[in-house]
Amino acid sequence: MASASLFKPSAATVLDKSDWVKGQTLRQANVSAVRFNAAAPSALTVRASSYADELVKTAKTVASPGRGILAMDESNATCGKRLDSIGLENTEANRQAYRTLLVSAPGLGNYISGAILFEETLYQSTTDGKKIVDVLLEQGIVPGIKVDKGLVPLAFSNDESWCQGLDGLASRSAAYYQQGARFAKWRTVVSIPNGPSALAVKEAAWGLARYAAISQDNGLVPIVEPEILLDGEHGIDRTFEVAQKVWAEVFFYLAENNVMFEGILLKPSMVTPGADCKERATPEQVASYTLSLLHRRIPPAVPGIMFLSGGQSEVEATLNLNAMNQSPNPWHVSFSYARALQNTCLKTWGGRPENVKAAQDALLQRASANSLAQLGKYTGEGESEEAKKGMFVKGYVY
Ligand code: 13P
Repeated sequence: MASASLFKPSAATVLDKSDWVKGQTLRQANVSAVRFNAAAPSALTVRASSYADELVKTAKTVASPGRGILAMDESNATCGKRLDSIGLENTEANRQAYRTLLVSAPGLGNYISGAILFEETLYQSTTDGKKIVDVLLEQGIVPGIKVDKGLVPLAFSNDESWCQGLDGLASRSAAYYQQGARFAKWRTVVSIPNGPSALAVKEAAWGLARYAAISQDNGLVPIVEPEILLDGEHGIDRTFEVAQKVWAEVFFYLAENNVMFEGILLKPSMVTPGADCKERATPEQVASYTLSLLHRRIPPAVPGIMFLSGGQSEVEATLNLNAMNQSPNPWHVSFSYARALQNTCLKTWGGRPENVKAAQDALLQRASANSLAQLGKYTGEGESEEAKKGMFVKGYVY
């Protein structure tokens, strides 16, 4: 997969990296290396990123059997809300203590292949002075980085939002790669009760595609995450309809932007009824709708589908994932949960040093349950009442 033959009318507008990454020694990506293609003499062929092989390898490592992603990329504001829920102040020291607890849980790498970090954490050390990135690598976990800059109102829409962060993304991505990140995440959202308008869907898809191309050009495997929010009273069929539309547009623009599908990962919402819909769905129904969606919209070249939990309870998210892995899929179907991995762990910790081990055990229990669900072998036995509580919050920001 080193040199996908992609046609571009001209490469004259491609900037050399040195124009925008001042003073950094970078491996030069070959996206601007134009060569003549004898098979199509009138066209210029542009090699894919020289990171192509590495991107494929990284994506495969993250999408490895029995493992998934620990999403611990809460922005400082969101992390503050989590800390507040256990009575802790949102200080850098408290965030560091919590993140140290997460990344140093013994044996975490048996179940977790990648960890998404917030920028602060990528440059942070543990409480005993080790770089967090190094602790992850020692655990066999690939470090990733949240690169979007959050949601803002989308003008002239139906109270919808769009995701910021493309300005300066290339130079930030290059710096994150140097710091040890090997994959990236960009979360944008689509609201069903607010439309979604054609404008909001197009904007979400285009932003994801530009981000994905820039990430690949800088050696980071992009996680493509158009979250279809749980908010609403709609039934599962409506979610399915909207999801089909969203993923059609996302793949249209990914292709238009020459993104290499073998070097991306997806982070979809599962297809479920809206949070306020009276008719609930069983894990088998969620799995059936979600797999139909994936079969219709996602090419088998994509190595991994890493679901978000979106406010489902820890147990529900695990049961749904397990139901999707009852027969072989063309892609690795796994998890990239934040709330559904961390909730019991955070509450068990409660900010007390003497609870660190119990909290790590709670994290490991969720991680191993989801590892089993990735293999289709989770039984749901012995789960606590806490793990069955839903975590849906209206208009959730990350
Ligand atoms: P949740 O699993 O809490 O929905 O997290 C979503 C997310 O995007 C984290 O990276």
